[in-house]
Amino acid sequence: MSTSQDRLDFIEATAARAGRAAVAEVAAVVQRAISLRVNGERVRLDVDVRATLLDVVREQLQLFGTKKGCDHGQCGACTLHINGRRVVSCLTLAVMHEGDEILTVEGLEREGMLHPVQQAFIEHDAFQCGYCTAGQIMSAAALLNEPCGASDDDVREQMSGNLCRCGAYPNIVAAIQSARRGA
Ligand code: FES
Ligand code: FES
Repeated sequence: MSTSQDRLDFIEATAARAGRAAVAEVAAVVQRAISLRVNGERVRLDVDVRATLLDVVREQLQLFGTKKGCDHGQCGACTLHINGRRVVSCLTLAVMHEGDEILTVEGLEREGMLHPVQQAFIEHDAFQCGYCTAGQIMSAAALLNEPCGASDDDVREQMSGNLCRCGAYPNIVAAIQSARRGA
């Protein structure tokens, strides 16, 4: 005849087995295999369906040029291009981008030549600590192909989603205007 201690042991063991099975089931559900094209190269990887594109780019693809500032869509530090359009990557899930073309700052140069915006940022000393710079450059590179008025104010408006805690704004605008003139 089983004692009450035996019954308690049985209940605990059953609960532990059920817990392990549930954890395994959840782990299987939250992982998805996706395929992206990143900086011109096809990559396949398993991602957590809850992972942002920013976290996948930095932590799984080890592309640390794209920065995490606020992680809330407010600073623009995480800006990259998806299918040619600028996007704040902290606000989009990686799993939503099956087959998409992702461009990060590491992929901006062509055949060893800096992108005109990168070159202009250097020439106009458009950064101080540099934390916002990759996001600024990716936004500015996209801006070259967007409708935007000619004035500095138009550029400021188009770049208003990219914050710079160092206040390098005058030089950033000068760099972008210089790149636009050369574009
Ligand atoms: S980290 Fe994405 S907008 Fe700030
Ligand atoms: S250069 Fe430091 S935050 Fe912009």
